[in-house]
Amino acid sequence: MMYIIDSANLDQIRECVEYYPVAGVTTNPTIISREKTDFISLIKSIREIIGPDRMLHIQATSHDAEGIVREAVSLQGIVGGDFYIKIPVNPEGLKATMALKKMGIKVTETAIFTQQQAMLAAIAGADFVAPYVNRLDNIVSDGVHVVGEIVDMFKIHDIKTKVLAASFKTVEQIHKIAMVGAQAVTISADLFQTLTYHPLTQYAIDDFIADWESCYGKVDILQIIENQKNK
Ligand code: E4P
Repeated sequence: MMYIIDSANLDQIRECVEYYPVAGVTTNPTIISREKTDFISLIKSIREIIGPDRMLHIQATSHDAEGIVREAVSLQGIVGGDFYIKIPVNPEGLKATMALKKMGIKVTETAIFTQQQAMLAAIAGADFVAPYVNRLDNIVSDGVHVVGEIVDMFKIHDIKTKVLAASFKTVEQIHKIAMVGAQAVTISADLFQTLTYHPLTQYAIDDFIADWESCYGKVDILQIIENQKNK
């Protein structure tokens, strides 16, 4: 499963790329506006940090298919590399998706809340569909169930479109999504830390170091090797 960072904050992206196996970055207009900075230099900086081989998903803001297609072409020219235009799943979005597929531009169909929205998006040619897990849970639906059915439905119909589950608040949601077979999750920088941390892990690390230091003092293995060489 691919882990993607859902952020446009350059410090967060830099840190996540350094410490975690990040496959790319997703943004949306809300995430971009939080940065309160020039849009074009922001997306260029994100590309610079993640390099050309990681995915960069940027959401279109035009309301009609023609505008979405033009935004996609321009954005691809600006950020280059492994680029995906994110398009909300509505009739104009689907029309744009079909046109972009013919042009060879990759599409992530977003704001997906139902299995049939995902199916239509996939048949229209989306490379990824992005169902919103936590927002589904918040309306007393079951985000994991919806994502699981999308994964199964794509298998039944031999559809190659990948499922990029989005909108997470908990580790449990992410784990359950992994268990239903989604190919990717996009999560906040905070969730990367939460996924990694466990108090027993920290306890084990502290314990190992205490035992080591009680025998060798406050030196690490590299220092011991260096000391040996200098003898
Ligand atoms: C990502 O593509 C979505 O835009 C995002 O995950 C939505 O998350 P939210 O429900 O936390 O806003």
